[in-house]
Amino acid sequence: MSFVGLRLFSALILRSRASGVSKDGPERAGASFETQAPFAPQDEGCGSRSAIALIVALAVVVLPAGSALAEIKSGSDFLSPELRRQQADETRNPGFFWVEQGRELFTRKPAGGGQACIGCHVEPQQSLRGAATRYPQVDAATGRLMNLEGRIEQCRVERQAQPAFGYETPDLLSLTAYLASLSRGLPMQVTTEGPAKPFYEAGRAFFERRQGQLNLSCQQCHDGLVGQKLRGDTISHGAGTGYPAYRLEWNDVGSLHRRLRACSLGVRATQFEAGGPEYLALELFLAARARGLPVETPAMRR
Ligand code: HEC
Ligand code: HEC
Repeated sequence: MSFVGLRLFSALILRSRASGVSKDGPERAGASFETQAPFAPQDEGCGSRSAIALIVALAVVVLPAGSALAEIKSGSDFLSPELRRQQADETRNPGFFWVEQGRELFTRKPAGGGQACIGCHVEPQQSLRGAATRYPQVDAATGRLMNLEGRIEQCRVERQAQPAFGYETPDLLSLTAYLASLSRGLPMQVTTEGPAKPFYEAGRAFFERRQGQLNLSCQQCHDGLVGQKLRGDTISHGAGTGYPAYRLEWNDVGSLHRRLRACSLGVRATQFEAGGPEYLALELFLAARARGLPVETPAMRR
């Protein structure tokens, strides 16, 4: 790692501290860790030493395009034992509160009449079990890539004649967490062939492209540095099979796309709109990498 590189990194940290404006997540999240450089040291203690070690490590990570890993692991495998225990305990994992909210919303009739979700989706434990494992998928009618959130919004607008909830709203997060929780333990099985293929390829290209002021690709961290420590986190494969997830940093449940925005911000790259085409394609690519891994929503993360 060159000296110039380290100086640039420090400059980025200072700049991000000075700006102090959160560009991640919903407004109600308020100031958070992500107002500062997520991948930069917060203090002059051991954090900065580990950050420097990481930069040095990054400098030597050179991955051939399209390199495939033998085995992709769930993000939960990289948690501390205590956090993993908390995640597994329904009484201590706050994500289950969102699941409960979602279950309740699913049975509620929309304002001004119309059918509740459960009016059409009777016995959701059976009829919608496994649905989450097949998303994102291409919507046959529109040819657009749709994730679980998108499918819920489609029913909300077209079948309940209600205004869309909006990405990252508590209602949509709750319903998504509830429906995904119905697939807990079932293996991811998205399709990447046929009409899904161009979306999958776009997602892969995004994953492999170096970006942002730190000029890092997703792959450099989530393939090349798996198992390394970064600011108290252990870098995982970025499987995303536990979302919506309760993140301590957020003090809230958030979508996968909110997590992706945090990673984009971390390398000082463009943060795309949650629910937009860029992150949808990326979500498909991540889901395909995670094929065979069980759905774990609601996961807990740092
Ligand atoms: C008027 C009936 C109706 C209502 C109300 C309705 N849906 Fe649907 N929903 C459907 C139909 C029809 C489909 C398409 C079924 C199919 O072909 O898989 C569908 C599909 C879905 C799917 C995709 C299932 C899969 O296997 O891919 C999800 C998820 C879903 N609905 C969630 C909801 C939610 C959440 C609500 C309430 C906000 C809701 N729906 C309200 C009729 C309805
Ligand atoms: C500088 C390294 C770095 C880069 C580059 C990076 N991330 Fe991350 N990412 C992290 C860290 C650290 C975490 C939190 C620990 C973990 O779960 O891996 C994380 C978390 C994630 C998660 C959540 C995993 C889970 O189970 O909770 C996903 C998904 C993810 N990243 C995807 C991406 C994508 C897609 C990109 C490219 C746009 C990207 N990351 C770029 C470091 C990075």
